[in-house]
Amino acid sequence: MVCKSGMAAFIFFFFFFLIILIESGFSYDIPTGESDCSNRWIHIRRLPSRFNLDLLTNCSEYHIYDDFCPYLLNHGLGSKTHNHSHSWYRTDPFMLELVFHRRMLEYPCLTQDPNLANAIYLPYYAALDALKYLYGPEINSSSEHGLELYSYLRSDAAEIWDRYMGHDHFLVMARPAWDFSQPLNMDPPLWGTSFLELPEFYNVTALVLESRAWSWQEQAVPYPTSFHPSNSHLLESWLKRVRRSRRSTLMLFAGGGGIGATPNIRRSIRNECEYSTTDDDGASANEQICYIVDCSNGICEHDPIRFMKPMLQANFCLEPPGDTPTRRSTFDAILAGCIPVFFEEQSAISQYGWHLPPELYDEFSVFIPKEDVVFKELKIVDVLQSIPDAKVRKMREKVIELIPRLMYRRHGSTLGLKTTKDAFDIAIDATLERISSRLQDVSFR
Ligand SMILES: *[C@@H]1O[C@H](CO)[C@@H](O)[C@H](O)[C@H]1NC(C)=O
Ligand SMILES: *[C@@H]1O[C@H](CO)[C@@H](O)[C@H](O)[C@H]1NC(C)=O
Ligand SMILES: *[C@@H]1O[C@H](CO)[C@@H](O)[C@H](O)[C@H]1NC(C)=O
Ligand SMILES: *[C@@H]1O[C@H](CO)[C@@H](O)[C@H](O)[C@H]1NC(C)=O
Repeated sequence: MVCKSGMAAFIFFFFFFLIILIESGFSYDIPTGESDCSNRWIHIRRLPSRFNLDLLTNCSEYHIYDDFCPYLLNHGLGSKTHNHSHSWYRTDPFMLELVFHRRMLEYPCLTQDPNLANAIYLPYYAALDALKYLYGPEINSSSEHGLELYSYLRSDAAEIWDRYMGHDHFLVMARPAWDFSQPLNMDPPLWGTSFLELPEFYNVTALVLESRAWSWQEQAVPYPTSFHPSNSHLLESWLKRVRRSRRSTLMLFAGGGGIGATPNIRRSIRNECEYSTTDDDGASANEQICYIVDCSNGICEHDPIRFMKPMLQANFCLEPPGDTPTRRSTFDAILAGCIPVFFEEQSAISQYGWHLPPELYDEFSVFIPKEDVVFKELKIVDVLQSIPDAKVRKMREKVIELIPRLMYRRHGSTLGLKTTKDAFDIAIDATLERISSRLQDVSFR
């Protein structure tokens, strides 16, 4: 009981603070010179609270889903992992919409005038609104997800949409696009809402956690990890720790699955790990060939300590596809300086182009086609052991270089950290660029 009311108070303050920020047209930064903002102005579309804040009040009411109230704390970063932690939170990646919204409020080039804006941000919590279709009572009307928003946009200040017919609008949808791309009028409904299938939203840019192979509307941005530093000292000391960490494990897999009888990549990984743990031929400094962090039943999701420590001690982190090709774990691994090993192209190389340019993959990751492992008896261990130590060190250095651009720093960070572009900054830059070229293609005016 005490706990519940404590949580309620927390959430109340969360709303209260956010509403103040929104209402005051909050601008956090020291004013930036006009020139820095040219072609970078963003207008935050004012939306009724039913499209964002109201959705948080039902956080404990989705019975087949989790109670997500605890993850709302700290503007979507979640609670700190422990009392004295500075940068580590129990972050749920599906809260990225809140994290983004909060960061948008301190974006230095906000304008109240939509006519001056180069892009229009919709602070709509699309993935949270989707819960009622995915796990709730409206499962049979999932093709309607988004229609209410659209009708609002076309009825209230319609000129904002009409100027570029939505081509300058963007929003965050913090789930894989797969969850929003059920073909319209599927009968019976399978999985997902149809938001990304609606012609009404074809022109809008959606930032998702995983995109489809043939995406037009959406672009994938990094899953948030649990690390959100607020000043450059905290970032630097983490990077130092990652660099210095002693890596005594060759390869690590943090996850579940692979226990059934059907051959698949997760099962192959499990098999290899079971047979190889005691085998030490002295060929390298690895004291352990393979280490599995058991994350079945979601036990790792809000408990980063379980996997971050072992990842710091591993050279390679295996990132097999699961329900969908991508995993948050890829970003946890990179954060720990653990070289990611991919088994299909959809897992990363065809996804995060803004943050991880495709031409860099050879330098920071290993690719082993899953078919070769599952059906042709290629051993992951053999592939990884054949990589010379010097190459491994070089790859790790590249991985560590990527950390600052893949993490989401804490809102309200100090100026020092703001000079380093993080995942949010890079997403905004690229969104502005994409919208600008889209507007040229469609040749308005
Ligand atoms: C929240 O839940 C209540 C009751 O469960 C429901 O009536 C209401 O429509 C829900 N609100 C939202 C925004 O989903
Ligand atoms: C951590 O914070 C909680 C709540 O404020 C408090 O009850 C607890 O004693 C603290 N623990 C430590 C180790 O300080
Ligand atoms: C959805 O439709 C199916 C099939 O028509 C039906 O069995 C089910 O009860 C409906 N679910 C809800 C929540 O209305
Ligand atoms: C999307 O843009 C095209 C022009 O590129 C326009 O014909 C269409 O009506 C727009 N869709 C909406 C829903 O505004």
